[in-house]
Amino acid sequence: MHLSMSINTDISLKRDFIKAHLEKPLVMIGLMGAGKTSIGKMLAEELGCDFIDSDDEIVKREGRTIPEIFEQSGEPHFRKVEREVIGDLMKDTKPHVIGTGGGAFMNAQTREAIKQSATSLFLKAHINVLLNRVGKGEGRPLLMAGNPREILQGLMNKRYPIYSEADITVDTRNEAPQKTLNRAIEALYTHLNPS
Ligand code: S3P
Repeated sequence: MHLSMSINTDISLKRDFIKAHLEKPLVMIGLMGAGKTSIGKMLAEELGCDFIDSDDEIVKREGRTIPEIFEQSGEPHFRKVEREVIGDLMKDTKPHVIGTGGGAFMNAQTREAIKQSATSLFLKAHINVLLNRVGKGEGRPLLMAGNPREILQGLMNKRYPIYSEADITVDTRNEAPQKTLNRAIEALYTHLNPS
C-alpha cells in the first residue's frame, strides 16, 4: 500500500514537471498496434493538452477512409497527403500530443520536420504484442496484403532502426496501458531533466 502510494506520488511529480517543461509537441511513433493513439491520448489527458491523430486529419482532408484512399488512389498518394498533413501539424508549436501513422516517420522530409519541431517518442513493441492488437489487420491496408505476422516482421526489420532515431524509446508490452503510460512519463521526465 505504502509502496504503491509513493510510486503514484513519484509519477505525479514527474507528470507535473513535464507539464511545466514540455515546450514542443510530442509525436508518437511506432508500428501499427503499438498503442500510439491509446497511449498518446492518455498522455495528453495527463498533461492537460490536446491530442491529434494525423491519420484522422488525413481522413478529414480527403473525405474518405484510409482503406479507400489506398484502394482508389494508391499508397504514394496516401504518403503525399501524410507528408503534407504532418508538415502542417508541425507548424503548431504549442505542447500537445500527436499520434502518427506507422509509416510517417519513415519519410525523410516528415522525419526532419518532426526532429526540428517536436519531441518524438517511439513505442517499441515485440511482434506478438503488435499481432495481438491488430488482429486480422482490418482497416489497415498494408496488413490486408498477406500474412500479418510476416508483413509486420518485415516492417519491423525495416523500420525499427529508423524509429530508433526518435528522442525517446519506450517499451510497450502485453500489460495494462497505465503501466506503459507510467513508463512513458518516466522516460519523458528523464529526457527533459537529464541530470
Ligand atoms: C500505416 C499505418 C496506419 C496508417 C496506414 C499506413 C503504416 O496507421 O497510417 O494504414 O504504414 O504503418 P497506424 O500505425 O495508426 O495503424
